[in-house]
Amino acid sequence: MEILRSLNAMREWRTSLATEQRVGFAPTMGNLHAGHIELINVVKQQSDVVVASIFVNPMQFGGNEDLDAYPRTLAADLAKLEAAGTAAAFTPTTTDIYPDGVSQHTAVDVPKLTDVLCGASRPGHFRGVTTVVSKLLGIVRPHVAAFGAKDLQQVLVIKKMVRDLSMNTEIEVVPTVRESDGLAMSSRNGYLSHDDRALAPLFSLTLEETAKRVAESGSDIETAIAESKAILTEAGFIVDYLEARRTHDLSAASSLNQETAIFGAVFLGTTRLIDNRII
Ligand code: PAF
Repeated sequence: MEILRSLNAMREWRTSLATEQRVGFAPTMGNLHAGHIELINVVKQQSDVVVASIFVNPMQFGGNEDLDAYPRTLAADLAKLEAAGTAAAFTPTTTDIYPDGVSQHTAVDVPKLTDVLCGASRPGHFRGVTTVVSKLLGIVRPHVAAFGAKDLQQVLVIKKMVRDLSMNTEIEVVPTVRESDGLAMSSRNGYLSHDDRALAPLFSLTLEETAKRVAESGSDIETAIAESKAILTEAGFIVDYLEARRTHDLSAASSLNQETAIFGAVFLGTTRLIDNRII
């Protein structure tokens, strides 16, 4: 596996590929788990060579968030990428990506979809995601790029950006990979204390139960959500949001006439977990 530590190295490697070679891409922030490896596996089936990036993107973290604490495990990550059959790992520096600093950088903003859910709770987060992803797609020039369905809002935002800016990359959505107890895999799960880790699966389970209940009984969405919030709060979660929204435009859903998902974000201590279930 090639390790490309700079923009120039990445560009040179990309230029060396034959035009008919189909390039698959899995962008990550490192601390890789089985969910990331699934991104690699999915794009591998659709391409001749797979590139993964590892870049902890400062622009998508708020001032009071976990940028400094975010787990950086480069050596282990590179070994996992190599074992998964990745052809190249792109590990740019912050200066490579933000030569004049984050605040002086041109930004990409997707309207409306970013006003709700994580966009409302984490102002500026999606602007950081879309800016870095547009840069990575411009540098790597992949035919296909994979993103995990755990971050369903992120997927919708990126798909809109790619469509609006006429980018030549197909976006592949990869189903959420879960621990055996149902907890969605996330690099942030490692922050959980022993007790909080034991409690965490209740979040995924509650989302699943809420989605099932609404689907099977046609139960009133608002009541089901209110009851689920109460269950989580009672168990010790701080609920950031728990909402039913249409998956195509994230508008609020009060009936099931279009595909709808329950989206949730909760805190256990200082750890923020997100997940969703399509009804
Ligand atoms: O989902 C992530 O890990 C990040 O938001 C991404 C897409 C790699 C951009 O930094």
